[in-house]
Amino acid sequence: MHAIGVDIGGTKIAAGVVSADGELLASTRRPTDPTDAASVDAGVVDACRELMGSYEVGAIGLAAPGFIGTDRATVRFTPNLPWRDHPLRDNVARELGEGLRIVVENDANAAGWAEFRFGAARDADDMLLLTIGTGLGGAVVVDGHLVRGAWGVAAEVGHMRVVPGGHYCGCGHEGCWEQYASGSALVREAQAHMVTFPERSERLLELAGGRPKKLKGQHVTQAAQEGDPLAVELLATLGRWIGEGSASVAALLDPALIVVGGGVAEAGDLLLGPVRQGFTEQLSARGHRPEARIVAAEMGNDAGMVGAAELARH
Ligand code: BGC
Ligand code: NA
Ligand code: ZN
Repeated sequence: MHAIGVDIGGTKIAAGVVSADGELLASTRRPTDPTDAASVDAGVVDACRELMGSYEVGAIGLAAPGFIGTDRATVRFTPNLPWRDHPLRDNVARELGEGLRIVVENDANAAGWAEFRFGAARDADDMLLLTIGTGLGGAVVVDGHLVRGAWGVAAEVGHMRVVPGGHYCGCGHEGCWEQYASGSALVREAQAHMVTFPERSERLLELAGGRPKKLKGQHVTQAAQEGDPLAVELLATLGRWIGEGSASVAALLDPALIVVGGGVAEAGDLLLGPVRQGFTEQLSARGHRPEARIVAAEMGNDAGMVGAAELARH
């Protein structure tokens, strides 16, 4: 049976038809206005309709960037988008027909499940996935099972407090890990350097057309790959935050594998080197326990779609 997986983000929806063995057979996109939840629903419906015109599908998985209820139907809270208690599943089901099996999943859980079934963690039983993007998403697999918690919102690792009194977070608190270990944090820090130390930021300023506000995470990656010292340092700082926080997570979960995904993971060892270093330096009982391997995600931009479809199928 084919299933559709839909990855719902802040600026776009990506929807794809996924076969039973995890192959992406077709995909389509829609732009979204994240401030308008109804337009997101309409985009999801429209994208699914297009795909259902050419493929017979039995289930649809909708991956959204926030806290999802145990009903696997409601988006309760999105820290970086204004959706609150939004009945996503029912809105979509009303349009597409009640006969279909439709479930809502957390975006990082979906990506993590794809990596666990088909990607970087396919040989692991216990893994932590981190998606480094606008936010910091997490997926936890323990003994082959995706951990959902009592109320569906387990693995919200981005909102563990790592700095008392630190940067404000969209979740309503301060000092969350996501404020230090996300693509947004990387861009915020880079922009601060561009304003305060323009002489160290020449390459970044050039890539951003002279305007710090126009800087993107990819610019930092590109500059670092060219050898720009500031960009290398910014990625290393981000990596340390990811690695040190992962050591705390390892105190709780003892994963065999930590998979790092999201756009900035494309920086490869420029990011993963510092992640590994931060992790080992902060790991408790180091030298007296096996250490988790830290690897890059393998499924790229397809992970959310593939994982959402796979979770909906079962
Ligand atoms: C949200 C998570 C989400 C992550 C990545 C975080 O801010 O709390 O639910 O998985 O961002 O989108
Ligand atoms: Na999650
Ligand atoms: Zn938070």
